[in-house]
Amino acid sequence: MFALAGREWDLLAGVFAPVHSPTTAVALELLGLPPAPAPDPDSGPVFPVDGTFLEIGAGTGVIAVSAALAGCTTVVATDISAQAVRNTAMNAERHGVADRLVPRHGDLFDAVGDGERFDTVYWHSNYVLAPDGYEYGADHERAYVDPGYRAHRRYLAEAPGLLTEGGTALLQFSERGDLGLLRRLAEECGRTLRPVRRCHLREGEETIELVLYEVCIKN
Ligand SMILES: C[S@@+](CC[C@H](N)C(=O)[O-])C[C@H]1O[C@@H](n2cnc3c(N)ncnc32)[C@H](O)[C@@H]1O
Repeated sequence: MFALAGREWDLLAGVFAPVHSPTTAVALELLGLPPAPAPDPDSGPVFPVDGTFLEIGAGTGVIAVSAALAGCTTVVATDISAQAVRNTAMNAERHGVADRLVPRHGDLFDAVGDGERFDTVYWHSNYVLAPDGYEYGADHERAYVDPGYRAHRRYLAEAPGLLTEGGTALLQFSERGDLGLLRRLAEECGRTLRPVRRCHLREGEETIELVLYEVCIKN
């Protein structure tokens, strides 16, 4: 169990733990999800009030549950970790949004049905780059590491295709990841990355920048 954003949350073993990483709290802030102040809508897209939200890699479900509590009508929350899917379901029950939050198990969009479309598609990604042939030593590494950025490449290629008219595909990325490679992959997929919002985190002596990008189709 942990506390975040004024609420208590269940935490299952092996699931990305917001209590050990401040990046989930930053995600709430970048998306403008309460209790973060709502961002100026003119500064870029925010989570879709009265709309549909797809979160890839929901982990404990803090973001997905917060989006449902903040007014999204339907939230689909996927994760490659079955334990994370269970954890999201527990937190949806705990906070009374199980009627509109659908946890699903699958790799990126594999659990999204044909024809399903969303106003916002979002991923707080596992941005640590490992060599393409890297084999995970333990399941929990999937929360941090993406070998060869294969999952990032697929996200860039496919996320915009799952949007409703006027919808937004978002990616939360850290400057600790390989932004150069991410941009090259975006280019290869015919996408551009538009920074929407930034946040700075102090980690010891270092300041880390986390950026919310919009994945746009290149004209
Ligand atoms: C950085 S964590 C973020 C977790 C949660 N969204 C949060 O902010 O607390 C990344 C999450 O993505 C999941 N993940 C990694 N690769 C995935 C994939 N290919 N498909 C779906 N989920 C994936 C991990 O299991 C992990 O829960």
